[in-house]
Amino acid sequence: QVPKQITNEAVKPFGAKDTKDWDLLRASLVKFRSSSLEVPLVINGERIYYNDGAKRSFFSQTNPAHHEQVLANVTQATKEDVISAIQSAKDAKQRWMSLPFYDRAAVFLKAADLLSTKYRYDMLAATMLGQGKNVYQAEIDCITELSDFFRFNVKYASDLYSQQPIESSPGVWNNAEYRPLEGFTYAVTPFNFTAIAGNLIGAPALMGNTVVWKPSQTAALSNYLLLTVLEEAGLPNGVVNFVPGNAVEITEEVLKDKDFAALHFTGSTNVFKQLYGKIQQGVVNNLYRDYPRIVGETGGKNFHLVHHSANIPHAVLSTIRGAFEYQGQKCSAASRLYIPSSKSEEFLSNLAGTLQQQHIVPVNTSASPLNGGDLHGFMGPVIHEQSFNKLANAIEEAKKDPELEILCGGQYDKSKGWYVAPTVIKTSNPTHKFMSTEFFGPILTVYEYPDSKYSNICHTIDTTSGYGLTGAVFAKDREAILEAYEKLRYSAGNFYINDKCTGAVVGQQWFGGGRMSGTNDKSGSGNILNRFVTIRNTKENF
Ligand code: SER
Repeated sequence: QVPKQITNEAVKPFGAKDTKDWDLLRASLVKFRSSSLEVPLVINGERIYYNDGAKRSFFSQTNPAHHEQVLANVTQATKEDVISAIQSAKDAKQRWMSLPFYDRAAVFLKAADLLSTKYRYDMLAATMLGQGKNVYQAEIDCITELSDFFRFNVKYASDLYSQQPIESSPGVWNNAEYRPLEGFTYAVTPFNFTAIAGNLIGAPALMGNTVVWKPSQTAALSNYLLLTVLEEAGLPNGVVNFVPGNAVEITEEVLKDKDFAALHFTGSTNVFKQLYGKIQQGVVNNLYRDYPRIVGETGGKNFHLVHHSANIPHAVLSTIRGAFEYQGQKCSAASRLYIPSSKSEEFLSNLAGTLQQQHIVPVNTSASPLNGGDLHGFMGPVIHEQSFNKLANAIEEAKKDPELEILCGGQYDKSKGWYVAPTVIKTSNPTHKFMSTEFFGPILTVYEYPDSKYSNICHTIDTTSGYGLTGAVFAKDREAILEAYEKLRYSAGNFYINDKCTGAVVGQQWFGGGRMSGTNDKSGSGNILNRFVTIRNTKENF
């Protein structure tokens, strides 16, 4: 039986008095910091290492807070490895899909329990060190969101299977069978959430599909650990095949295969567009047996809109959290802000003042959560050099642009880790490219609008960026809220009223946007599971 009551996993506070939690976490941090782990490929349960004899290379996953520190040597899949991973997924399919649903579900329910108990501190440490998170950001990712995905998916799947035709004729029996897709699923997963990686492999697998998993190189440590947890929970060999490596080469091999049945993707808009086009081309060229399912969640240029009736201190704090938590590297992060002229001074001085407070010390490696300092440090490093350079270039560009003014932040420091200060840039042009380009880091661009132009600014928000992921309105005035709600209908798949635009909770706020932000299939809900089944309807006369 599927548990009747499924609730969200509670976030551990890691408060000053929680010494036992801290001790356990420190032990895990020390373990992962003191020796670099060998991360293998996992194909049909078999571990394959780069130094096994065959000519394979490895990628060094480093600590973004301390880029000289190698955390893991990640084996890179060759073309032959990808071919055998695909074969393994195909071979494991029949056995896995034939298991009673509860036996598949049991794997994910057990994994959720293992994550929130036995492996909690190791998962936290691997995510903190590898992906540059503080303990709170790691908790809400690789513990609570991840175990929520596994548990809630079981509940949603069970509800889905119970949806059956309504029988209306005597002597007729109708049945809907929810079959897994015919073929294998290709999961391409991002660095920024271990939980998202878990859901991208977990949702299709729960529905009886088998998976070829290309993890992000910069999240390989936590992602490999997650796979071992799933194995301990009973995941059979071959159901999920782990192949880190060169994305272009792996994808090329996968998309050639006639049994390619689905892409489950989270990552950049550009890469997703390319894959979308390639898959469609494959369909036109009769490459595949079926129309592959394409499920993707990509970028955003998420907005906070402040009305003059808003509670300003609350809107400021929400904006700081929405824009700068996890260094702005959430696809949901706020990166454009619209404030009314009458509240501009109050808002901006409060914003700058709060950002300068002691506990927000981004360009201070000694206080970094990853170097034994304050584990509650608000911000840590950005993920890698490429990201650091992109953000530093944007900041330099802003310094020269007459339409832009840096209000606070603007510093960056790569001497030890990839640190970029929370940066607020004011623009005089509401359609400036800083209001439409995603930087995926701690840069927030703000435009001040005349109070009387609230309706116009709703229109500007809607038309300035091609994305449609998240957004928030801050107002007490109900009419202002309703106006934004109506006018910004397609500007955000997740719309928040008087709350920051990040932090969707599984089962509560179903997550995913439209337009160029993705296919809007809503993780954290049953909708996503629908994409990994096809229905056979049977009619029987008797
Ligand atoms: N689900 C996360 C959030 O809402 C982003 O992936 O912040």
